[in-house]
Amino acid sequence: MLESSRDYAKQSTQGFIGVSERVAIRLIKKDDFPCLRRIWADELVMRHMTSGALSEQQALEKFGNMIRPNVHLRRSYPLTILQREGREPIGTYSIDFERHSGVYTHSMVIDRSRWNTGLATEAYRLLLTFAFSGHKINRVWTACDIENDSAKRMLARVGLSKVGTIAEYAPRGDGWVDCDIYSLVARSWNIKMAERQDNNAFQIYP
Ligand SMILES: CC(C)(COP(=O)(O)OP(=O)(O)OC[C@H]1O[C@@H](n2cnc3c(N)ncnc32)[C@H](O)[C@@H]1OP(=O)(O)O)[C@@H](O)C(=O)NCCC(=O)NCCS
Repeated sequence: MLESSRDYAKQSTQGFIGVSERVAIRLIKKDDFPCLRRIWADELVMRHMTSGALSEQQALEKFGNMIRPNVHLRRSYPLTILQREGREPIGTYSIDFERHSGVYTHSMVIDRSRWNTGLATEAYRLLLTFAFSGHKINRVWTACDIENDSAKRMLARVGLSKVGTIAEYAPRGDGWVDCDIYSLVARSWNIKMAERQDNNAFQIYP
């Protein structure tokens, strides 16, 4: 049986900022590159992303920007999602701290071999716990390609609501993509969490 989330994080020397039943999250590290590079090269995984699938060179550039050591200056934190079993990186997402106590989450990708297992939903819920419980943020929002049905279902599952659509929100190839905007405020998150029995499985170390 897996140890509790709290015990797992205590034992770990990896600097986790959040641990749940099956996943853990921490700031991205150099060692993550081989796994993330493979995920970013997958055309199916990247088909809704602004960049599309990345070449080796593009992956190196993106990764270089993500691990730049100016954490105290920037308000954007790229995180690696690890599966606790196997301790392997299975994806990434970023959280940008904004004005007015809000955060924007973006660039979530999960290795195709872990799709439809609930791991993505758990990882996003862990991010919400990090924002709302760990940092007392008041609003989390994100933008999602209007044709990205699996992402939209995941966002709805964790409690975000569609609040509108922005035409030509993100560049893609030579054109632009319309995106649905999803949002969740702390008040609604707290109501949802009060209804759940499994909150202790989500541990945050801000
Ligand atoms: C978007 C993305 C992260 C969602 O991942 P996912 O694999 O669809 O998410 P999950 O595994 O959490 O959920 C998928 C399904 O598995 C089901 N599932 C299976 N086992 C489950 C479990 N143990 N717990 C919860 N759900 C489970 C869910 O109910 C869900 O069903 P549904 O889609 O029919 O509603 C993933 O598709 C991805 O990486 N896409 C490419 C990148 C991308 O588009 N990113 C989004 C940018 S906005």
